[in-house]
Amino acid sequence: MKNTTATLLEMKQKGEKISQLTCYDYSTARLVDAAGINTILVGDSLGMTMQGYDTTLPVTLEEMIVYGRSVVRGCKDAFIIMDMPFMSYQVSVEQAVENAGRLIKETGANAVKLEGGAAVCSQIRAIVDSGIPVCAHIGMTPQSVNVFGGFKVQGKGEANAERVLNDALLVQEAGAFMCVLECVPPKLAGLITGKTEMITIGIGSGVQCDGQVLVLQDMLGIGEFRPKFVKRFDEIGARMKEVFQTYDQEVKNGVFPDETYAYGKSDCSDEFLKELDGKY
Ligand code: KIV
Repeated sequence: MKNTTATLLEMKQKGEKISQLTCYDYSTARLVDAAGINTILVGDSLGMTMQGYDTTLPVTLEEMIVYGRSVVRGCKDAFIIMDMPFMSYQVSVEQAVENAGRLIKETGANAVKLEGGAAVCSQIRAIVDSGIPVCAHIGMTPQSVNVFGGFKVQGKGEANAERVLNDALLVQEAGAFMCVLECVPPKLAGLITGKTEMITIGIGSGVQCDGQVLVLQDMLGIGEFRPKFVKRFDEIGARMKEVFQTYDQEVKNGVFPDETYAYGKSDCSDEFLKELDGKY
């Protein structure tokens, strides 16, 4: 069954946890969707995981659209959220609505996500008013890495905690139906989850959020990034490397491909090949 804003909000009301993973391509999206993950985030983390940048800042709207379309083609049931990249919504409310519209129209995804609290409430309100569901993102917001001076836990200290809670209340008021809480101390994340009707999705914010998101490469053990909050559910990266080494050896030793992997039956006759050989 297709996950929608309504089914996801109902899950929160019933106290059922919501799963979310990032994903950026068709083949992986098919697997994530078939596994029953409720929502997929086409995160601008793809700048780091897929493109090899140090931050998410260089990612463009056009790039997001290309990755987003591939994910949408691979999904049946997952609710798909498109990240709005850096500088695609900060400049003005009009710019935010126009770009959110492009992300939805040109990919077929279901919602957009943008980073920030009080500062982006006008954008959230206008995007929701134009008919696009919005997931907010507060706490550690990677697009502000240069302001934070690194990827650091937010909401530490009483003043910061109050600011993060206030941001949550404001983005909800502006119309966000979901909010990512990134690196927010767990008790504060629990407080926000209890005080809001929007869905809270935690990343490094403890178990009391309504749901959890992880960057797919991190949880599979493919990524190089190893923050404390990432549980590596497997070491697929190490396994992939072994498989690549086996392939390398088989190609170099002439073991692959043997006749099992060749179209022997439809091959030309020896007589014809001999004739061909003589002709040229
Ligand atoms: O871009 C992303 O993948 C994100 C998650 C880390 C929440 O914003």
